[in-house]
Amino acid sequence: MKIVVIQGPNLNMLGIREQNIYGPMKLEDIHAQMKAFAEQNNHEIEFFQSNLEGEIVDRIQECLGDADGIIINPAAYTHTSIAIRDAIAAVKIPTLEVHLSNIYQREEFRHKSLTAPVCAGQITGMGPYGYHLAMVGMNQMLTEIKM
Ligand code: DQA
Repeated sequence: MKIVVIQGPNLNMLGIREQNIYGPMKLEDIHAQMKAFAEQNNHEIEFFQSNLEGEIVDRIQECLGDADGIIINPAAYTHTSIAIRDAIAAVKIPTLEVHLSNIYQREEFRHKSLTAPVCAGQITGMGPYGYHLAMVGMNQMLTEIKM
């Protein structure tokens, strides 16, 4: 099965940006851990990061007929992007939303996720480990679909 991991704006700055909130781990290190888990479970995995809303919409659309699952951290677009929400809804591919920080503990403008209602689930506040939890959850969902 193929999993596509989509990372939104400023997540390329992990390890540099607001370490008190997002921690010291770099995006490439998070991806290395996800890749190892994917390989152990015989999944193909691809990673994509963009700071541009339209590129994220394009990448979600490209998943149609290609990917079996999507793991996405839409970052700031979580709270603003109807376009990303609509793209997730359009492709109808099981999608899990991840946030490093607990968005419900932070500023009020982060409490609302426009994308979560069209995702199968959301993991928030578990730091980089949240991506591993998403991999475990996705593996479970994909295995269930196969059965
Ligand atoms: C984030 C939370 C968002 O509110 C923020 O804009 C981000 C990262 C997270 O992973 O905690 O860029 O998605």
